[in-house]
Amino acid sequence: MINNEYKEVQLPCFTDERGNLSFVELGQILNFSIKRVYWLYDFKKDRGGHAHKNLQQFVFCINGSVNFVLDDGVNRKSVLLDAPDKGLHIIKPLWREITNFQNNPKVVVLASDIYKEDDYIRSYEEFKAWKSNS
Ligand code: TYD
Repeated sequence: MINNEYKEVQLPCFTDERGNLSFVELGQILNFSIKRVYWLYDFKKDRGGHAHKNLQQFVFCINGSVNFVLDDGVNRKSVLLDAPDKGLHIIKPLWREITNFQNNPKVVVLASDIYKEDDYIRSYEEFKAWKSNS
């Protein structure tokens, strides 16, 4: 998988006697403007199972852990989000599946655009065909 399709990001973590603080801000860590924030919780079954044509997302898991499976149509990679200071920037169109929920995870997603159903590809076969044509 080409390196610039996604990036695992170590977020800043400020620790003092009160605890920890992590953040993202527009600049070095986040290079797109956030138009939408959503969050996933009370996981019962695997989620995802789609790709986005244009959307960029920056994901972190602020409690528990989840596994993101990322697939470019040929290769698959797994990214474990198991700490609140780990971020995952999904830069390019990748098929993604969210699996392996541990300890009641809470996943926060920063998105570069508002919700648009026509940005989704919800069939893996369609995604592979779309990738090979693009
Ligand atoms: P879906 O994209 O299927 O969830 P996941 O990314 O985990 O696979 O979204 C589930 C439902 O929520 C779907 O009917 C669309 C709706 N939805 C919104 O209305 N706004 C949003 O920002 C998101 C992410 C989903």
